[in-house]
Amino acid sequence: MRTDDDSWDITESVGATAIGVAAMRAYETGREDAVFQDPYAGKLVGAVGSDSWTRMLRGQDEDLRETGGAFIRGVMGYFLIARTLYFDRYFADAMEVGVRQFVILASGLDARAYRMQWPSGSVVFELDLPKVLEFKANALADDPIEVDRREVPVDLRQDWPKALRDKGFDPSKPTAWLAEGLLRYLPGEAQDRLLANVAELSAPGSRMALNIGTGERAVSDEFRKRRAEALAQAGLRVDLEQLWYPWEGRTDPRTWFAMHSWLVREGDPVALLEAHGRTVPEAALPDMGNHILMTAIRPRGDDTL
Ligand SMILES: C[S@@+](CC[C@H](N)C(=O)[O-])C[C@H]1O[C@@H](n2cnc3c(N)ncnc32)[C@H](O)[C@@H]1O
Repeated sequence: MRTDDDSWDITESVGATAIGVAAMRAYETGREDAVFQDPYAGKLVGAVGSDSWTRMLRGQDEDLRETGGAFIRGVMGYFLIARTLYFDRYFADAMEVGVRQFVILASGLDARAYRMQWPSGSVVFELDLPKVLEFKANALADDPIEVDRREVPVDLRQDWPKALRDKGFDPSKPTAWLAEGLLRYLPGEAQDRLLANVAELSAPGSRMALNIGTGERAVSDEFRKRRAEALAQAGLRVDLEQLWYPWEGRTDPRTWFAMHSWLVREGDPVALLEAHGRTVPEAALPDMGNHILMTAIRPRGDDTL
């Protein structure tokens, strides 16, 4: 059960969900036909101290391969892979048009600061709860990093803009913001506040990319049951449905940005994977249809998406 001021480390509650997505990135990285490389994901998952995720995703355990692992890889995993690709491309595009300030909201075990090629002068701010940031910094302490990465340990339901400014964020510069796998962990009003803060801190030319699950309309009870079993087998001691706040009653971010005169463009996760040679199986399509993937840009006048 969530409360307004609950908190966690990487092994519990919302923190543990970051392990699941990193494990999926580790699995993808190890595939012969990988559509991206995240060489840090496996190390981060390993540092958690439980290898059930990696074993499951690599299919080293026959039982798990046939049950939970197959479900995670073959159903849930497709959206996670698509969104990694989409947000990698998003940051690369922002770099190309000259953005040098990047903010990753709820960075979890995202290793983009380590693995992407950042133009000189770039600053990457990472916001998450203190223990989550601390875990990643310790796990990657010996890894070289070229970008100016600044940790902002803060709860995104609190006054995070102040914490961000205190670390040197400059609201007069265009910023590329990212909220990957975050919004359903916030109550609707905290999401509205977060988007309003982003807009407030965004100079013209800034952009925001995000994803959000739109509820469970298209998934069956059987899907939920198999998801719960698969996560339990992976050792993730969380019930996603208890961690998410409802979709119902929340502002659709597409509408929110359009109403604030940002240009909005939606990504198509299925088409994106297919463009990279990966066919999405029938079984994964209902889940894929339950997510919004989008970019919004605050125009400078001549900007298009
Ligand atoms: C599913 S993980 C996604 C992590 C990362 N963005 C990725 O895609 O790999 C969710 C992350 O959101 C963070 N998070 C959720 N609610 C938060 C809050 N109120 N304040 C700070 N971080 C939060 C969690 O700590 C966790 O790292």
